[in-house]
Amino acid sequence: MLCSCKCSIFADIKQFDMKFFIDTANLDQIREAYDLGVLDGVTTNPSLMAKEGIKGTENIMNHYKAICEIVDGDVSAEVIATDYEGIIREGEALAALHPQIVVKVPMIKEGIKAIRYFSNKGIRTNCTLVFSTGQALLAAKADATYVSPFIGRLDDISSNGVGLIEEIVDMYAFYGFETQVLAASIRHTQHIIDCVKAGADVATCPLESILGLLKHPLTDIGLEKFLSDYKKLNG
Ligand code: E4P
Repeated sequence: MLCSCKCSIFADIKQFDMKFFIDTANLDQIREAYDLGVLDGVTTNPSLMAKEGIKGTENIMNHYKAICEIVDGDVSAEVIATDYEGIIREGEALAALHPQIVVKVPMIKEGIKAIRYFSNKGIRTNCTLVFSTGQALLAAKADATYVSPFIGRLDDISSNGVGLIEEIVDMYAFYGFETQVLAASIRHTQHIIDCVKAGADVATCPLESILGLLKHPLTDIGLEKFLSDYKKLNG
């Protein structure tokens, strides 16, 4: 049985660091996060692409390639099709674009079948729009590379988003599933901290939430004092 204290199990089950993805299709924000030196990847979705005004298959494909050229890590690119053949066709085209592409597939029946197909072919996947432990179980059984529980959208309907991350992390550890838990729909900096405590493998965050981690009033007060003391003697 797993210990209910998350901290005590980390040392035994975690073989890698927590990864940090940025959740945007905005190239400037991706560059800014990458320049911080702490970025492990990018997630996008059709809404984020639309927000940047990227339309038409060729432009969309070129945009994914541009993102891959900025960052070193995984870049999730989502299929639009919802039928099995369409998901396979789009997913294979996306995967062929760049080795960093991870094909993002919705948590639907045809999506799970497609994830199994992609897993068998060595194409990495991110199972998206996950809102329950049962859905996360299916994603892991299909060998998805990542599963994306949407914590902010659960919080929006008075459900416990971070609680879902904890349940999935525990279930995957108990059964030894290799699917990585990618906490998505993060809305603020405290969500990131809560996902760390819950043992998520990855947090995908808006730039503002990442930058929020830098902030502490005592850091600002301390720095101001150091600099003013220096200036008193050194001018
Ligand atoms: C990322 O993979 C998800 O698509 C994204 O985090 C959803 O975030 P939202 O709920 O803020 O739209």
